[in-house]
Amino acid sequence: MASQDHHGKEQWASRIGVILAVAGSAVGLGNFLRFPGQAAQNGGGAFMLPYFISLLVLGIPLCWAEWTMGRYGGTRGFNSAPGVFQILWRNPISKYLAAVALLIPLVIYMYYVVIEAWCLGYAFNYLTGKLMLGEDSAAYGAFFDKFVGIEKDGALFATGGSQLLLLLLVTFALNFVLIYRGVTKGIESFCKVAMPLMVVCALCVLARVLTLGTDKVVEGLGAMWNPDPEYLWRWETWLAASGQIFFSLSVGFGIVINYASYLRKSDDVALSGLTSSSMNEFFEVCLGGLITLPAAFIFLGASAKSQGTFGLGFNALPNVFAVMPGGQFFGFLWFFMLFIAAITSSLSMLQPVIAFFEEGLGLKRHASATLLGLISALGCGFVVYFSQGMLALDTFDFWIGTMLIFILAMIQAVIYGWMFGIERGHQELHLGAHIRVPWFVQLMLKYVTPVYLLAVFIGFCFTKGPDYVRVISGGGVPLYSVLFIGTILVFLLLLIRIAGQRWQAEGRFDNID
Ligand code: ALA
Repeated sequence: MASQDHHGKEQWASRIGVILAVAGSAVGLGNFLRFPGQAAQNGGGAFMLPYFISLLVLGIPLCWAEWTMGRYGGTRGFNSAPGVFQILWRNPISKYLAAVALLIPLVIYMYYVVIEAWCLGYAFNYLTGKLMLGEDSAAYGAFFDKFVGIEKDGALFATGGSQLLLLLLVTFALNFVLIYRGVTKGIESFCKVAMPLMVVCALCVLARVLTLGTDKVVEGLGAMWNPDPEYLWRWETWLAASGQIFFSLSVGFGIVINYASYLRKSDDVALSGLTSSSMNEFFEVCLGGLITLPAAFIFLGASAKSQGTFGLGFNALPNVFAVMPGGQFFGFLWFFMLFIAAITSSLSMLQPVIAFFEEGLGLKRHASATLLGLISALGCGFVVYFSQGMLALDTFDFWIGTMLIFILAMIQAVIYGWMFGIERGHQELHLGAHIRVPWFVQLMLKYVTPVYLLAVFIGFCFTKGPDYVRVISGGGVPLYSVLFIGTILVFLLLLIRIAGQRWQAEGRFDNID
């Protein structure tokens, strides 16, 4: 199949390719580290009820809406959110709202790629045996703290901190080489190899963990799955569950709209959207949920539950690998798999912005990649430099990776349900569809999803917002981080203005149905 249409616009080469690319974007560190961490901290099985409700009410419907809107905009000549939003809702303001759909993937990339480099570093240090530190659990904490420079800002730039910087350079370069190769030759080809490879690696580690032959495996599974009903009455459990669904499915990221814009008019979106979401759930619930926490539980007992996301992944699990037979090999396999999973996700964070630079500013691919490389390197440098207590990373993650995702999801639900219209949406969703999606899903998208999102968001602002506002008003790195994000947002808004003027002058919105 051709990978460009007759106007030279990029297109996916195969159906399985696009499904694997979207699933690749979804399956990432969120599935293997964030999910078990969130479940453990929010009542185990009690977390799973709001989690599945959020999947059905928010995740899958919004995923369908994003696939539909993306293909609609793509077949009318736009691949990036500002153009697509403007096509869906012919109000000049819509393209400015889309700034959020560029800001989210761009800023998340800035810290996500750093964690990706940690994974590569851990895989490498397993290979060389440096992470086989015996049974002293403090040694793993000390290794991690030094590796990520948690003690002091700028620690990684001092002598001895250079290993992570080198690995970050490699990781960064790999992302840009793949993205530069384009949608088909870069993203699609890579995901077609990476996804099966991830399944094989994860299944090997899962088989090893579940056959350790101890009752603790069962206890670990219990910690993950037995419900603690008290948590169901806590607002935070519902917030955490819906946040996890968004982060994990890459919904509300501005990514699916971009990926779906490379489809043809008659390509199925209904079954493809459902398939990629289901694949993500398989990786998250069946693999992530069965490996990370049960493994940590075996060696740390109940205290495994109180480890945060990074604690579980980078402290608890290395403890486990140190004492299990073949631990060095399985440790390598695990972190290598995390690295691959993270790449398929980080690639998807670059593509929406590259697409905007190309179609909005008329830049060629090398110029777009260079501009994006410079901006993202600046942000990445910021995160790596302000490493003390991971304050910059945490601030970026809260304001962008949590708060702004809710806002974009709300914007998209309103544009789809109220501006574009659910009748058109339903019709568009079924063009070339291999399944029928019931009409009530559209009603849910118009009425239930925005209300549910708003309720969760308001709850979010009340429960977590004041703490974070207090942190920012304390000045220092959290304040600089927010100012940094604000500067990038203003820059993107300016570029969108320039792009809007170009599109207007070219008559890009004239005669579009
Ligand atoms: N969806 C991606 C993940 O889970 C961002 O890591």
